[in-house]
Amino acid sequence: VNVVTTIAECREIRKNLGYLALVPTMGALHAGHLSLIEHARDKADKVAVSIFVNPTQFGPREDFQSYPRPIADDLAKCEAAGVDLVFNPTPEEIYPPKGDPAEQTAAEVFIDMPNLSNVLEGRFRPTHFRGVCQVVAKLFNILYPQVACFGQKDYQQLRVLTAMVDALNFQVEIVGCPTLRDPDGLAMSSRNQYLSDAERQRALSINRGLFAAQEEYSKGFRQTNRLMTTVQKIMLEAANQGRVPLLIDYVAAVDAMTLKNVLEIERKTLIAVAARIGPTRLIDNVLLGGD
Ligand code: PAF
Repeated sequence: VNVVTTIAECREIRKNLGYLALVPTMGALHAGHLSLIEHARDKADKVAVSIFVNPTQFGPREDFQSYPRPIADDLAKCEAAGVDLVFNPTPEEIYPPKGDPAEQTAAEVFIDMPNLSNVLEGRFRPTHFRGVCQVVAKLFNILYPQVACFGQKDYQQLRVLTAMVDALNFQVEIVGCPTLRDPDGLAMSSRNQYLSDAERQRALSINRGLFAAQEEYSKGFRQTNRLMTTVQKIMLEAANQGRVPLLIDYVAAVDAMTLKNVLEIERKTLIAVAARIGPTRLIDNVLLGGD
């Protein structure tokens, strides 16, 4: 696999890659990422993976410093998966520091999509999506992929980026790929490695709650109040709690396109959860309806 760290090298190699699918990542690759790479391969002749822990999408009290960066391991996984190009820049390469203090640096240029970005995650991470849009727009302009693959676990990110591409006429097809789960049902995430065994057991109430809501939907229940209560009850059940506290940031039912609250499911609806277990914040969701 070709591994490059500068934009100039990346552009040079990209010239020879033809129809290209990009999988943007922050590294700490797991089976979920490998499945995105598989989807990318189905969609294009060549596959590029970017590995970049993007500082501008982390809030001041978030885990930017401690975010896992097992680069040797990640490169071995990309090699084994037959990835054609890995772009692994430094923060300075993507966000060059100011020369003249009056100058606008790259890190200060944002794309803001307030209607989609201020809800759900945006209420708890107010600057997150403008950082995601900023870095993904830069990656699109550096690699000009024809296709880009993102996981549905980060559903709001997928929706925001799809809307960004539509609004700003990027010539790239955004592909949403299904969430991969461990055998116990926990949605795969690089942050799962922060969890102790007890915390992981506690975290399973998130997917159990979502699966229970899915089950109720399949039995004909359409009131989102009922489904959200089911999710919350399972997450907070005393029997479930043990000594590990779980703090719910939100359980929400929103329209899959507009991300506005839904009372009764008539169209595709996202049931989304964010919760904190000790210092670890996890998100998960299921999509209901629209079929
Ligand atoms: O989903 C992620 O890993 C990141 O938000 C992304 C899309 C790579 C942008 O930094």
